Amino acid sequence: METKTPTLVTGAGGCIGAWTIRQLLAEEVPVLALDLHRDDRRLRLLVDPEELGRVTWIEADVTDLAALRRTLEEGEVGAVIHLAALQAPFCRANPPLGAAVNVVGTVNLLEAIADRGAEIGPFVYASSIAAASQPGEPHPSTVYGAYKLACEGVAAVYRQERGLASIGLRPHTVYGPGRDQGITSDPTVAMLAAATGTAYEIAFSGRLTMQYAPDVAAAFIAATRAREYDGAGVFELPGDTVEVATIVAAIEDAAPAAEVSFVGPPLPFPAEVAPDPGSPFGAAVSPTPLSVGVADTVAHFRRLYAADQISAPS
Ligand SMILES: NC(=O)c1ccc[n+]([C@@H]2O[C@H](COP(=O)([O-])OP(=O)(O)OC[C@H]3O[C@@H](n4cnc5c(N)ncnc54)[C@H](O)[C@@H]3O)[C@@H](O)[C@H]2O)c1
Repeated sequence: METKTPTLVTGAGGCIGAWTIRQLLAEEVPVLALDLHRDDRRLRLLVDPEELGRVTWIEADVTDLAALRRTLEEGEVGAVIHLAALQAPFCRANPPLGAAVNVVGTVNLLEAIADRGAEIGPFVYASSIAAASQPGEPHPSTVYGAYKLACEGVAAVYRQERGLASIGLRPHTVYGPGRDQGITSDPTVAMLAAATGTAYEIAFSGRLTMQYAPDVAAAFIAATRAREYDGAGVFELPGDTVEVATIVAAIEDAAPAAEVSFVGPPLPFPAEVAPDPGSPFGAAVSPTPLSVGVADTVAHFRRLYAADQISAPS
């Protein structure tokens, strides 16, 4: 059955990786979880030990083409969700490493998958809203965004020259348990603070589009199942576009004693998204309202904190 196709998830130790693996495990899909090191800290926040035991971990670097080829062959991989990347602050701190992981890593996957012919496809990968330019600007405003845009272009050329279909998703601000790094992780850290009785200041202001992590994971998985898709499309995802003040209000609704504030400039990319209802996976993606996602996240953090599985943010 198609849903049982062994699925390779790169960047499996990250936030979206954990939520993606959670859904695949719930559907009893065999999961190959690739990351630099076996890191199930985030996944353990979401699944029980029995489910955790069903994941096959592969310690590999996406800059290592030979390791990716081996993984695809030995794992009999039929679907790929490529999430491994360095987020914006890490790319800014070390641009050559950011280019190696984010650009070369993606090119390596395109190359390895194209060589395997029609066994896998479409190749599903994480781009980012940061690949979009600010209104009136000719380029993305971060090297991270420029790398993501480059990957979208390279994927389009692989479609043209090698016939490899691909679907790039451009998440905006993903939130939910497990979201703990990158500039847009602040709203989730504020939810953790509220759940643990700690004060927190979000380091940006303005408008942004909030997307609940399980919805985003569902979109990545649905994209792998658009088997007939033959293009190299890039798609934005739906979510709630709100002011930071609205996020703070949702946190206060879920945790009335919360002490959350915000300060700083707006995020360096467009606030709005333009999801395409005609996307090859569109029907599978229905966004959770912000108030529900925030309440779920605060409740989830409260349970984990009471069970001594997480600490308050410092
Ligand atoms: N979280 C968001 O709001 C958001 C928004 C837009 C785009 N994205 C993109 O979605 C993807 C997943 O985001 P996330 O929030 O889960 O990120 P994350 O930072 O939580 O996880 C990234 C994972 O990639 C792994 N990784 C880094 N270098 C690697 C390498 N060389 N080889 C193998 N693995 C490596 C890391 O160890 C980490 O587990 C990324 O590509 C990110 O750029 C995320």
